[in-house]
Amino acid sequence: MINIQSDFSLKTHNTFGIDAKTDYFISFSTEEELLFFLNSSEIWKSQCDYLIIGAGSNILFTKDFHGIIFHSLLQSIEIEKESDEFVFIRAGSGVVWDNFVEFAVQNNLQGIENLSLIPGTVGASAVQNIGAYGVEAKDFIEKVEVIDLKTTKKLIFKNIDCNFTYRDSLFKKNQNFLVTNVTFKLRKSNFQFYLNYADLQSKLQNINNLTLIDIRKAIIEIRENKLPDYKKIGNAGSFFKNPVVEFEKYQEILYDYPNLIAYKLAEGKMKLAAGWLIEQCGWKQQRTKNVVVYPKQALVICNLGKASGKEIFDFSQKIIQSVYNQFGVSLEREVIVI
Ligand code: EPU
Repeated sequence: MINIQSDFSLKTHNTFGIDAKTDYFISFSTEEELLFFLNSSEIWKSQCDYLIIGAGSNILFTKDFHGIIFHSLLQSIEIEKESDEFVFIRAGSGVVWDNFVEFAVQNNLQGIENLSLIPGTVGASAVQNIGAYGVEAKDFIEKVEVIDLKTTKKLIFKNIDCNFTYRDSLFKKNQNFLVTNVTFKLRKSNFQFYLNYADLQSKLQNINNLTLIDIRKAIIEIRENKLPDYKKIGNAGSFFKNPVVEFEKYQEILYDYPNLIAYKLAEGKMKLAAGWLIEQCGWKQQRTKNVVVYPKQALVICNLGKASGKEIFDFSQKIIQSVYNQFGVSLEREVIVI
């Protein structure tokens, strides 16, 4: 049933645990419920500002939101079709991402196991093109279904039309598109594991006949060791993106910092490890009363409990400024700031 709540606290709907409010919080369990709301609600007709959130694991509220927040509870997981090698699974945007990964692993379907334990929902996996340990969601997404909130039309985008890039997509740029279902193409044979990441290799090196369960277990251990659990300490994973710079800029920094951590990209560009840049600026030792840089991963900013969104934002601004002053590199926030 569609659920419309007004003057609603978002504290349990964002992983920073910020107690911001929204004028309206609309959650729906079927596409029909959403369409009914869009076609008939006076609230929708009178409001212009709106936002779509999944699990709120990539958002920082610095103020209350005056408008409507849409929240999908679409929960189905169904096999759409199969070939000898692949299974196409269609999942509702409200499915918890890690439950979906667990489902795939338990059914011995290969592809997304390296994306275990990433907070968020299936919908957000497409919006944000989530990625970790050499894998991105886009590598396994076949198609994305959306409802255009402005026209109420249902649209389907094939992978190639989703404009997936690093932590970005058509759906992140176009706020009219509310993702309803995502279809993934997973392997049921000829598995292609992605084990290049050093931590992963060392955890798995002594295991013969590697299974998806082994890989999922290793990824969960690596993440639990490096990243804070938002249920215990508020955070949104990587706060910043790893910046991409020209090769000349990389060489310039490397000259002064021979231990710079960077990865080669296409077209001669280099992706720098933002966590390393932030650590070099001395941020791992720094905190305010309510905000801290996570000691094991400088890319993560944590709410020690009572921080306001503004306090976290201001803290992140200081980090951006100091990285710029030291390296001449502009960090971009990965989290969406409201
Ligand atoms: N590093 C440091 N100091 C730090 C943090 C990292 O020196 O404080 C170094 C590490 O030693 C490593 C390199 O930087 O050599 C990269 O670090 P890490 O492997 O932890 O990955 P990352 O680039 O910092 C990205 C994603 C993570 C994802 C990991 C693993 C982004 C913005 N972040 O982090 O994704 O889990 O790779 O693949 O691309 C997220 O998006 O929320 C997220 C957690």
